[in-house]
Amino acid sequence: MPMTEPPLPMRPLRLEVIVGSVRAERFAPVIVDWFVERARAREEFDTAILDLVDAALPQDLSTTPEVDAFTERIGCADAFVVVTSEYNHGYPAALKTALDTVKHGWRAKPIGFVAYGGMSGGLRAVEQLRQVVAELHMVSVREAVSFHQARKHFDPADGAANDAAQRMMTQLVWWAEALRIRRDHAPYPG
Ligand SMILES: Cc1cc2nc3c(=O)[nH]c(=O)nc-3n(C[C@H](O)[C@H](O)[C@H](O)COP(=O)(O)O)c2cc1C
Repeated sequence: MPMTEPPLPMRPLRLEVIVGSVRAERFAPVIVDWFVERARAREEFDTAILDLVDAALPQDLSTTPEVDAFTERIGCADAFVVVTSEYNHGYPAALKTALDTVKHGWRAKPIGFVAYGGMSGGLRAVEQLRQVVAELHMVSVREAVSFHQARKHFDPADGAANDAAQRMMTQLVWWAEALRIRRDHAPYPG
């Protein structure tokens, strides 16, 4: 008779929710609060918010105490969700600086996207981000959340968005658990 593997005793997955917009009077906090409430309801995650407004990362990519703290936090995470707006068909510059600031801490970890914006719901920003995170050796999960015309029409009860968020988190958990086991056993060949 085939033996069934016992479930692995997993510690919670550390999820960092990265806030991409650093604009004055940004809409981002509404979307972040909506997502984080749902992430904190999932027992698989230990969820934290990493707001780039507070991170103070230099655009010249020099090393500062803030960069060291940011790098350490990324290194301790098991999974990421980026909450991104869309500006001129791209994602916020602060997000690019954040991604470029860290080298190894992103690697062999999954990332999901919660996007918002005008007509496109931030989906063009997400597609650009997928290219960049692949270069950082990350796995971007297929499911993403998108709110179009967010400032005017944001609806926290939106069924499609709620469903997408749950599916995205389930995919993140799958990848985060698998990749943490692999990272614990063998250094990622980056
Ligand atoms: C400079 C700028 C460019 C924008 N370009 C786009 C765009 O290309 N596509 C889109 O759907 N929305 C666009 N928008 C709308 C923003 O996505 C929307 O205002 C969103 O709320 C911005 O997020 P934030 O308030 O958290 O910064 C743009 C907004 C700004 C300020």
